[in-house]
Amino acid sequence: MFVTRLECSACGLWHDGSRLQNLCLSCSKPLFAIVDLAAASRTLKRETLATREKSLWRYREVLPLPANIEPVSLGEGGTPLLRAEKFGDDIDLWIKDESINPTQSFKARGMSVAVSMAKQLGATKLAVPSAGNAGGALAAYAARAGLESHIFMPRDTPRANIIECRELGAHVTLIDGLITDCGAEIARRKAKEGWFDVSTLKEPYRVEGKKTLGYELAEQFNWELPDSILYPTGGGTGLIGMWKAFDEMQALGWIGTKRPRMFAVQATGCAPIVRAFEAGEKSAGEFPNAHTIASGLRVPKAIGDFLILNILRESNGGAIAVDDQEMIRVAREVGSNEGLFVAPEAAACFAALKSLRSAGKIQSGERAVIFNTGSGIKYLDCYQDQ
Ligand SMILES: Cc1ncc(COP(=O)(O)O)c(C=O)c1O
Ligand SMILES: [Zn+2]
Repeated sequence: MFVTRLECSACGLWHDGSRLQNLCLSCSKPLFAIVDLAAASRTLKRETLATREKSLWRYREVLPLPANIEPVSLGEGGTPLLRAEKFGDDIDLWIKDESINPTQSFKARGMSVAVSMAKQLGATKLAVPSAGNAGGALAAYAARAGLESHIFMPRDTPRANIIECRELGAHVTLIDGLITDCGAEIARRKAKEGWFDVSTLKEPYRVEGKKTLGYELAEQFNWELPDSILYPTGGGTGLIGMWKAFDEMQALGWIGTKRPRMFAVQATGCAPIVRAFEAGEKSAGEFPNAHTIASGLRVPKAIGDFLILNILRESNGGAIAVDDQEMIRVAREVGSNEGLFVAPEAAACFAALKSLRSAGKIQSGERAVIFNTGSGIKYLDCYQDQ
């Protein structure tokens, strides 16, 4: 374990990583774990990664858990990177299939690391607001860790997610409102109930799990990052995590200075990042009347908005919104061409690729990556009526 400290991503204030922490105590922005990469690199070598276990814990030295502590793991990470056979057309398109993870989504990565750390630091009851997949992942890892989980979901969350959480032993509360209302309910009750809040980016370690998306991508492409990445953006944790991973890998001497152009993909009915990006703003206001079938994108206000917007601009990427009907239509096109039943959030990225290609923002022969962040199987209520 080579994390030296927790540092505020906005004001830089240092925090003690030996205690449970949520947001910065000074400015209430997300905290990042700072890794001593020189120390980590003494045993973590890119040449020997292939000899290690397949799960994301193979990057153990850059993850926060002490070396002598067994992680709470269900075999997350190590997912396939598949070449799109037909959908990419003249693009060299690759799909990172995160639906292979435990509980069928990329949320497993963040929760494996966050639950491992929360347990290690003494938490006993974990709470999360969830659009669906994060709840399922927390329920599974908390069960595995022997901890209580309290999950707050909007009432219109896909049924599969709600049932999954209950069957995994979680305490589930359905709220008439959005994920932000669920978060507010946790904030109101957590002190009295003794819950540790594992909302995305409101504790420092889910993003550490998500950063392994970036490590894996580099490893699978033989240490050459792609030209562009399309990421379905709700809270943006994967985008932020990958960007952190790219900087860490450069400091480790594993990759050069090249960065992919990062594109945040959202739904037309909930596109706070797209709106702020287009308006040239540094942070994003709350998106009114948020609605979309892609429940993971139904996030009207993200606490890491300023980090996401920075990355989009620094990488010369962008932000693009897709409407629900197009997501459903493209999901079937991906399914019948590539053999993957994708979540609507991922379908949005495939639709966005077409628009970016037509607009000349992604060009012929470029290497692009789309994350299939979850399985379509969890969204039967969205797909069945179409
Ligand atoms: C399938 C799926 N894709 C994408 C997202 C958005 O992820 P993030 O919050 O990291 O932006 C979610 C979040 O719930 C999700 O479940
Ligand atoms: Zn701060």
